[in-house]
Amino acid sequence: MSTNTVWHEHHISQKQRSILKKQKPCILWFTGLSGSGKSTVANAVENQLFAMKKHTYLLDGDNVRQGLNKGLSFSEEDRIENIRRVGEVANLFCDAGLVVVTAFISPFAKDRQMVRDMAMQGQFVEVFIDAPLEVCEQRDPKGLYKKARAGEIKDFTGIDSPYEVPVNPELHVVNDGISIEEAATEVVAYLKKNAYI
Ligand code: PPS
Repeated sequence: MSTNTVWHEHHISQKQRSILKKQKPCILWFTGLSGSGKSTVANAVENQLFAMKKHTYLLDGDNVRQGLNKGLSFSEEDRIENIRRVGEVANLFCDAGLVVVTAFISPFAKDRQMVRDMAMQGQFVEVFIDAPLEVCEQRDPKGLYKKARAGEIKDFTGIDSPYEVPVNPELHVVNDGISIEEAATEVVAYLKKNAYI
């Protein structure tokens, strides 16, 4: 617990930084089952934005868990802490004026609400990458579902740990039967329509 700290206001504001970058900063919060295509679509979105000369940063569960969040497990308590830290980091990048793309399972609705509440008003875009569990399990790109079914991985989302489906996300992308580029284009179209880019 940090005590005796004082919040310092900075001279340069988020607005000033984002004017420099000619974009409206926001957090694109991808959520979905393992194997739903979160990371792949998030990468494709970042590619499209980069081609448009937008300044972005991508935070991805697998990567962040090898650095900042090394040491956190997949228990409910650690997943909450994982998402809380990512929410803080995403906010810092957003404050720097970037379009932040995050790809975390973030299975619990209350944690997604927590990161939404942490973000500035109108700067949080929840993107539900929706693919049925059966499809994700069939794709099984990392062989993790197979291991979870065999009992080699405990607390695996969708198998023995819950995924709470987003009720009112800004964007619902059904990532089953469409290409990665089509899914990414849906996200970029939302950003254009809502004047983020
Ligand atoms: S969470 O729930 O938001 O804290 O998860 P996240 O940080 O996004 O990490 C998900 C990636 O970790 C791998 N992995 C697991 N996922 C779910 N449950 C269990 N038990 C688990 N163990 C390891 C897996 O590669 C996830 O990546 P994605 O891209 O979702 O498949």
